[in-house]
Amino acid sequence: MSLPGRAVAEQELEEAGRLNPGKWTAHSRYVAKACEYIAAACGMDSEKAYILGLLHDIGRRIGVVNMYHVYSGYRYCTQKGWDEVARICLTHSYLLGDAAKGVSDFDGNIEEYRFVEDYIRNVVLDDYDRLVQLADALGTADGFCIIEKRLVDVALRYGFMPYTLEKWRKFFELKEYFDQKCGCSVYKLLPGIEENL
Ligand SMILES: [Fe+2]
Repeated sequence: MSLPGRAVAEQELEEAGRLNPGKWTAHSRYVAKACEYIAAACGMDSEKAYILGLLHDIGRRIGVVNMYHVYSGYRYCTQKGWDEVARICLTHSYLLGDAAKGVSDFDGNIEEYRFVEDYIRNVVLDDYDRLVQLADALGTADGFCIIEKRLVDVALRYGFMPYTLEKWRKFFELKEYFDQKCGCSVYKLLPGIEENL
């Protein structure tokens, strides 16, 4: 099985939250729900989508790190035999298909960076990768939010990079892609989103 069941995934996140307490676990829960709702609306496997969303940031279990969480999540899930989650740990942060264009600097060593660089260059994304990439921008620790709000929030925290606009356009492309697959705006699928405006 290349993916844990829902109960095991929930336990993993709880344990990770004890190891490294922070808002990231609440964010992960909203990302999981966004994945589940959108997957259900467009005929994807909503259970799998939920689990992938729930564990996309599981690399943060090791403590406060930046982009290193993608690598540590990949390693952790690979050791567990959860290859599908391992993949999501890496792909969710690289919308532009380039390891040099993450949210922030890679805080691992050079071998680890080369591994990520190579993986991201060669991976062919599927709809689950795309869904978690999108959902990551739809969930805060307090609920669902529109992408515009999340992107501005990230820019305020990490600053503006030369490729930030390129990335924003990619998020809107992803939203349009899933809007079309669902036959409605994905915002309509997320309860309480208007309370977070
Ligand atoms: Fe995330």
